[in-house]
Amino acid sequence: MINRVPITSVCVLLALVGWAATVHAESVTYADLAPIFNTRCTLCHAGSSAPMGLALDSYANVIKGSTNGPVVRRGDPEASELIRRLRGTSLPRMPMMGPPFLSDNEIAKFEAWIEAGMPEGAASVAAAEPVSTPLPGVDGPVTYTHVAPIFARRCAKCHTDNGLMGAPPEGYRLTSLEHTLSPVERARVVPGNAAASELVRRIRGDARPRMPFDGPPYLSDEEIDLIVRWVDEGAHDAQGNPSPLPVGAKLRVHGRLSGRWAVDGLQLQPAARLRIDKSPVSGDYVEVRGRVLSDGTVEAERIRRR
Ligand code: HEC
Ligand code: HEC
Repeated sequence: MINRVPITSVCVLLALVGWAATVHAESVTYADLAPIFNTRCTLCHAGSSAPMGLALDSYANVIKGSTNGPVVRRGDPEASELIRRLRGTSLPRMPMMGPPFLSDNEIAKFEAWIEAGMPEGAASVAAAEPVSTPLPGVDGPVTYTHVAPIFARRCAKCHTDNGLMGAPPEGYRLTSLEHTLSPVERARVVPGNAAASELVRRIRGDARPRMPFDGPPYLSDEEIDLIVRWVDEGAHDAQGNPSPLPVGAKLRVHGRLSGRWAVDGLQLQPAARLRIDKSPVSGDYVEVRGRVLSDGTVEAERIRRR
C-alpha cells in the first residue's frame, strides 16, 4: 500500500501538468501580450513611421499586419512572421535593438496565443501611448531618457549589431548611452559642445550624408533641438549626471569652412603641425581630423577639402 502512494501522486501530477499545459495554451490572450508589445515593440512599431507599416499598438493592428500582409497565421506559429522574427529564423531578429531579445518563456506565450487562434481577451486593453506625440516639454536638463527613444526609433535599426546594414555603419552603435558616447574609435559626441559633435552635424545635415541615412523624413526640428540641448548641456545620463569629456579622444567632423579655421561656427585650434590638403578656401566642404582638448574645444590636426 505504502509504495502505491508515490505512483498515484505521479499520475495525478502528470494529469495536472497536461491539464495545465492545455489551459495555458487556451488562456493566453492579446491582453496578456499587450504589456510585452508596449515595452519592447511600440517604441518603433506605432504611428505613421512604423517599420513596414506594422503597428503593434492594438489588437486590430497586430492582426492587420504589415504592408506585406498578416504577420500571424491562425494555429500556425511556425508560418507566422511574428514568431520567425522573435526567434531569429527571419532576420533582422526582433526586437531590433536586441540583445536582449524576448525570453523563451515570452516567445512561448506568443506561440500559444497563435495556436489558440489569437483570442483578444479583456476588451479593455489600453492602446499603447502613440509615440509620435509631441516631445515632452523638458524643464531642467535634458537627459538620455528624453533622447533615447529618438535614437531607438530612427537610428538603431542600422546603428546596431546585425542591423539593416549588417555591421553598424562606421562601427557606431546607438543602442545605449555608453555606445553613443564611446570615444574608442573617435568621439561622435563631445558633451558640452554640440558643434564639435559629428552626431549633431549629421542630423542637421551640416555633415553628409545626412542622418537618418534612410531619410527623408529626417528628424523634426523639435527632435534636433532636443538632441542639441542634450549635448550642449553635457549629455546627462538617465540619472541626470553629466557625462565626462573624452579629453584627448580623436575626432572627425565634416562641414563648411569659414575663415581661419572654423566649420559651421565651430572655432578650431590649429595644431602646431596643422596639415592642410587640397587647398580648401572659405565656403568649401571639408573634413577635419583632430582631438578633443581639456576645455572641450577642438584641436585641428588636418583639414582636407572633400
Ligand atoms: C528599434 C526599432 C524596433 C523595435 C524595438 C522592434 N522592431 Fe520590429 N522591425 C523594425 C524594423 C526597422 C523592421 C523592418 C526590418 C526589415 O526591413 O526587415 C521591423 C520588422 C518587423 C517585422 C517584420 C514584418 C514583416 O511583414 O515582415 C516583425 C514581425 C516585427 N518587426 C516584429 C517586432 C516585434 C514583435 C517587436 C517587439 C518584440 C519588434 N518588432 C520590435 C524595428 C523595430
Ligand atoms: C538606414 C541606415 C541608417 C540609419 C537609419 C541611420 N544611419 Fe547613421 N550612418 C549610416 C551609414 C551608412 C553611415 C556611413 C555614411 C558614410 O559616411 O558614408 C552612417 C554614419 C553615421 C555617423 C558618422 C559616424 C562617424 O564615425 O563619423 C553618425 C554620427 C550617424 N550615422 C548618426 C546617425 C543618427 C543619429 C541616426 C538617427 C537619427 C542615424 N545615423 C540613422 C546608416 C544609417
